[in-house]
Amino acid sequence: MGRVSNCLSTMEMLFGFMILIVLVLLCMEPNNVEAQEEPPYPPHYELQALREIAAELGKKDWNFSENPCNNKSSWFTPPPPPHVSRGIYNSTVTCNCSFPDGECHIDGIYLAGQDLDGVLPHSLVNLSYIKTLILHYNYLHGAIPHEWGALKVEIMSLENNMLSGTIPTEFGKLVNLENLTLNANYLTGNLPPSLAKLFNLKELFMQ
Ligand SMILES: *[C@@H]1O[C@H](CO)[C@@H](O)[C@H](O)[C@H]1NC(C)=O
Ligand SMILES: *[C@@H]1O[C@H](CO)[C@@H](O)[C@H](O)[C@H]1NC(C)=O
Ligand SMILES: *[C@@H]1O[C@H](CO)[C@@H](O)[C@H](O)[C@H]1NC(C)=O
Ligand SMILES: *[C@@H]1O[C@H](CO)[C@@H](O)[C@H](O)[C@H]1NC(C)=O
Ligand SMILES: *[C@@H]1O[C@H](CO)[C@@H](O)[C@H](O)[C@H]1NC(C)=O
Ligand SMILES: *[C@@H]1O[C@H](CO)[C@@H](O)[C@H](O)[C@H]1NC(C)=O
Repeated sequence: MGRVSNCLSTMEMLFGFMILIVLVLLCMEPNNVEAQEEPPYPPHYELQALREIAAELGKKDWNFSENPCNNKSSWFTPPPPPHVSRGIYNSTVTCNCSFPDGECHIDGIYLAGQDLDGVLPHSLVNLSYIKTLILHYNYLHGAIPHEWGALKVEIMSLENNMLSGTIPTEFGKLVNLENLTLNANYLTGNLPPSLAKLFNLKELFMQ
């Protein structure tokens, strides 16, 4: 008798345990969904780089209390409604959140027509995953940093600023570059011969 009831209570305990597990799983489900909607922050060193980039560019309204990767608030200018033409004004940071380790990395900065009056940021090189850099229609001045030769950028537009100096020889290392626009600045000098090594370059705008 005692053995049977022991056995039963073991079964009951197992059964109870299984119900508990099911309940726990049910409770976790909504959290999983939330976790997908709210992407992780980019790594600390990218956030730190963004702060330095903001300081160098003169970008004052990025809100560092918000996640730059969540397409919200100061980090994102929503697309215009259909049939409304796209102005040049845009202030958007994009991220790639599809890395195998679940991390988000900043992959684009669009600051178009933002009245930025600073300089081109050296700290950009700390954003190791940046592919798109659009800084056109601002008042950025000074030289193009030669450190930018370390970028893996694919699309870069610095059109319509007040940049001076020469195009750095180091731009010959931008092997991923597909589209470079430098129109309407005060750049001087010749095109560096090193640019001939940019085999991915499809469009180059310079006037
Ligand atoms: C950027 O990278 C350099 C060299 O790796 C490092 O010395 C510097 O501290 C980094 N800056 C930030 C903001 O992480
Ligand atoms: C920045 O974001 C935080 C968190 O969402 C918000 O409370 C705060 O009002 C924002 N600051 C500005 C200046 O918009
Ligand atoms: C942000 O927008 C991009 C492009 O529209 C999209 O791929 C991404 O999933 C969005 N991220 C979030 C957190 O909504
Ligand atoms: C700003 O740029 C982002 C990234 O390309 C784009 O998704 C968004 O539609 C643009 N917004 C406007 C208003 O042009
Ligand atoms: C995001 O990163 C993953 C992993 O590196 C890559 O396979 C994918 O092409 C990237 N997506 C975009 C839109 O660049
Ligand atoms: C290259 O950049 C120029 C200027 O920003 C733009 O007009 C053109 O559409 C871009 N081409 C591609 C393929 O993105």
